[in-house]
Amino acid sequence: MDSLGRVNSPPAAQSILAMADLATPMSIRVAATLSLVEHAGSAGATAGQLAAKTGTREPVLRRLLDHLVTIGAFAFDPDSGHYRPTDLGAQMGQDAPQGFKILLDMACAGGRAELAFVDLLETVTTGTSAYVHRYGRDFWTDIDADPKLRRSFDEQMSWRFRDQVAQIAERLDWSRFPEILDVGGGNGTVLEAVLRAHPTLRGRVLDLAPSAAAAVERFTAAGLADRAGAVPGSFFDPIPAGADAYVLSDILHDWDDDHSRRILTECRRAAEPDGTVVVIEPILGSGTSTGMDLFMLMCFNGHERTVDELIALATGCGLHLTATTQVSDGRTALEFSPTPVDNQ
Ligand SMILES: C[S@@+](CC[C@H](N)C(=O)[O-])C[C@H]1O[C@@H](n2cnc3c(N)ncnc32)[C@H](O)[C@@H]1O
Repeated sequence: MDSLGRVNSPPAAQSILAMADLATPMSIRVAATLSLVEHAGSAGATAGQLAAKTGTREPVLRRLLDHLVTIGAFAFDPDSGHYRPTDLGAQMGQDAPQGFKILLDMACAGGRAELAFVDLLETVTTGTSAYVHRYGRDFWTDIDADPKLRRSFDEQMSWRFRDQVAQIAERLDWSRFPEILDVGGGNGTVLEAVLRAHPTLRGRVLDLAPSAAAAVERFTAAGLADRAGAVPGSFFDPIPAGADAYVLSDILHDWDDDHSRRILTECRRAAEPDGTVVVIEPILGSGTSTGMDLFMLMCFNGHERTVDELIALATGCGLHLTATTQVSDGRTALEFSPTPVDNQ
C-alpha cells in the first residue's frame, strides 16, 4: 500500500470479475435488512418460518438463503430444514459485538448511503453526488427528514469512534481549552469523552437540530448537564464566539473545498483573536483509504485529504498551523490559530 492507501499490487490470483460481483454483497445487505440472523436465532428456522416472519415470499427467500449458505454466512440442516447463522453470518446480527448491522441495514443511514455506489458513474461523469442522484436530495437533508435514519447515523458515529474516543480525550491536551465548541459535534460522543476526562472543562455541541437534541439527551444521561449543552444551528452561518477551542471532528472530509473553506472561515471568525481551531481528521494513507475517499465523494462530494491539503485549506482561510498530534489510531488533530490580518 502506498502513502495514500492505494494498493499497488493486488494478489495475482484475484479475479476482477469476482471482485465486481454484486450478488454476494447485496445478499448480505438484504439479509441484514430483513434481520434474518435475529429471526433464525441460534436454533435456526425453516425458509417458511423466516418468510412468515419477514413478510417475504418463501421460494424466493429460500434462494437467497441458499446463497448465504454458499458463502458461509448460514448453515443448512437437511434433516430439520433449518437455516442457522454461522459465526460469520452472526456478525450481521443486531447484538453482534462487531456492530456491523447499521452499516448493512438499508433502513439505516449507512446501509442506505452505500447503495448509492450504484450511481458512481454519474459522479465520475458529472461530478454530482451519487447520493443526490439516487435519493433526490443531499445526505443531511435526507436523513434529517427521517428520525430513524438520523438516529441510526448518530449511532453509527458513536460506533465508529468506540475505541478512538478515549484516545482523543487523552492524547490531546484539552486542559488548555476551558470552553469548547464542538462544531458539527453530532450527538456529543466526542465532547462527552473530553469532558469526562477533564472535569473542569465546559463545552457545547453545535449541530443540526435533531443531533443537537440528541447531544442534550446524552449529556443529561451522563450527568454532564451542568457543563455541557448544545446549540442547534448550521456551521455555514455565524457561530457563537468566545470559546477557547472550535473542534471540527470528521467534518471537513464531508465537504468539497469550497464548503470546507466556508466552515473554516466561520470558525476562524468565531475564534478570533485568541481561540484555537482543532481539526480532527482521518488522513489519506494513515487512518483512511482510497475506498473511503470514493465513499466520501459519491455520498457527500466530500474528500479525504492529506495533511498538506488540510493545511493549505486552512491557510487560505486566515488560519496558521500551531500543532499536529496523532490523537488516535485513525485520527490526526491539526491545531490552527487565526492569523493576524497584517500577516495574512
Ligand atoms: C461525520 S459527522 C461527525 C460528528 C462528530 N463531529 C464526530 O466526530 O463524531 C458530521 C456531523 O456534521 C453535522 N452537520 C452536517 N451539516 C451541518 C451543518 N450545516 N451545520 C452543522 N452541523 C452539520 C452532521 O449532523 C453530523 O453530526
